[in-house]
Amino acid sequence: MPHPTSLPAWHALEAHAQAIGDDHMRDLFARDPDRFSRFSLRLGDLLVDYSKNRVIHQTMALLADLAREAGFDEGRRQMFEGRPINATEHRPVLHVALRNRSNRPILVDGRDVMPDVNAALARMRDFSERVRSGAWTGATGKAVTDVVNIGIGGSDLGPAMACDALAPYTRPDLRVHFVSNVDGSHLADTLAGCDPETTLFTVASKTFTTQETLANATSARRWLTGALGEAAVARHFVAISTNAEKVAAFGIDPAHMFVFWDWVGGRYSLWSSIGLPIALAVGFERFEEMLDGAHAMDEHFRTAPPESNLPAILGLLGIWYNNFLGADAVAVLPYDQHLRRLPAYLQQLDMESNGKGTARDGQPVAWRTGPVLFGEPGTNGQHAFYQLIHQGTRLIPCDFLVAAECHHGLAEHHPLLLANALAQPEALMRGRTMDEVHADMIKAGMGADEAAALAPHRTFPGNRPSTTLLYRRLDPHTLGMIIALYEHKVFVQGLVWDVNSFDQWGVELGKKLAQAILPELSADHPAADHDCSTKGLIDAIRAMRGDD
Ligand code: F6P
Repeated sequence: MPHPTSLPAWHALEAHAQAIGDDHMRDLFARDPDRFSRFSLRLGDLLVDYSKNRVIHQTMALLADLAREAGFDEGRRQMFEGRPINATEHRPVLHVALRNRSNRPILVDGRDVMPDVNAALARMRDFSERVRSGAWTGATGKAVTDVVNIGIGGSDLGPAMACDALAPYTRPDLRVHFVSNVDGSHLADTLAGCDPETTLFTVASKTFTTQETLANATSARRWLTGALGEAAVARHFVAISTNAEKVAAFGIDPAHMFVFWDWVGGRYSLWSSIGLPIALAVGFERFEEMLDGAHAMDEHFRTAPPESNLPAILGLLGIWYNNFLGADAVAVLPYDQHLRRLPAYLQQLDMESNGKGTARDGQPVAWRTGPVLFGEPGTNGQHAFYQLIHQGTRLIPCDFLVAAECHHGLAEHHPLLLANALAQPEALMRGRTMDEVHADMIKAGMGADEAAALAPHRTFPGNRPSTTLLYRRLDPHTLGMIIALYEHKVFVQGLVWDVNSFDQWGVELGKKLAQAILPELSADHPAADHDCSTKGLIDAIRAMRGDD
């Protein structure tokens, strides 16, 4: 693939940014009363309004050209056909096969993967139904009341986010917990509320070698066997992994292992057996509805041209800000308490995928790649960091997510939430000029001198971009669509930035050094060849613990 900066559309966008980059959206809206219909798209129950972005028709056309010149058609075809697009690991990237509800054959090395996918789903269905009906019991014959998923990264964030998102579909008598951090407090605090007789552990790890997960699983096992004996492990532990050998070595019967495959990336794996906690929490039919939603987005992404392709539009808008207007961060702001884990989930999806500095040909990139992603549920974020988004010196494009209808019965709350979710994008876009602010203060009775002094502080520059994702209600189908939308957005950006979005070598060095430091923390082991800061900290830990 050519480097993006060599593409004609890249050069055209640079010139275009010079020409219109400072145009104020207030004026764009004033000039074009059809801006909302021109720059919004609907897919099923999901409406994406991207009219409050610093774009005109020509911007979107140039961005679509950029996608095409970067190989959009060929790139998505290769992914859906199971080509080894994760070149540094020689693997296809086929999370789309996991929700391929059409059952269209998808070949890897000439073999259709769909029978394996369907068999894994059938096992999930069978097991989740047995647990939920009480047919699967613990070692002492009691039904499961608590599921504890032990995993980290992609083996945690997706299912944890989805279980929160679908909380209205869960049952109070079957609670699902997530333990990820190697900090023992996470496991200890979780187990404090659980009864060994009625607790089921799902140990989720693609590789089954992850230090944090194995440490937590070992301690959980000790907690269980301390109460119920070794024989209880078979009824209280199941594994979710691609690595049967390691699962067996850990002492979980491979018969109690739920499989997936190396062509499923960790951060793209919640659609696979890694989604078992979701099926346990909300039931397999609901899990299937989530797959259906993702499949609907896949079909849209697979077939629509970039101009009317939602993931492409979101990805290209991100590129416009990141590479042409100087933004270095994006905010994801769900006005939906049940999506409180969405920013954390998207941090891995986006930053582990596109936080890369090497192009696919091995050359260092000479253009900016993935941005910093952060977010909090609205309205909490409004009372924390929105100040910087409204008046700070950085350009931070925002995604707002909000449902037209709520699940709860506190009817008077939802209009308040909706009003805030609509007001913030409007405020970001319009801003408030110095003259408007000054006039307001004079009208409110303030003296002319004070009004003049305060006006600059109270002025909002506006022209701050945002996209609003409005959906009817946060149900499993819509959740599936939203997650797949972001997955494909990340794909489009990786394609244009010419990076491999599907490896994550950047996490390896820290893991390796932690292995080296671990034995050095014990008193009788001298700190090895570290910089003086690391060595000083190791010595200080020993001294604080009174080791010397
Ligand atoms: O350290 C990063 C990572 O490799 C992620 O990509 C992955 O989701 C996570 O660790 C957990 O890995 P595993 O599922 O193999 O335990």
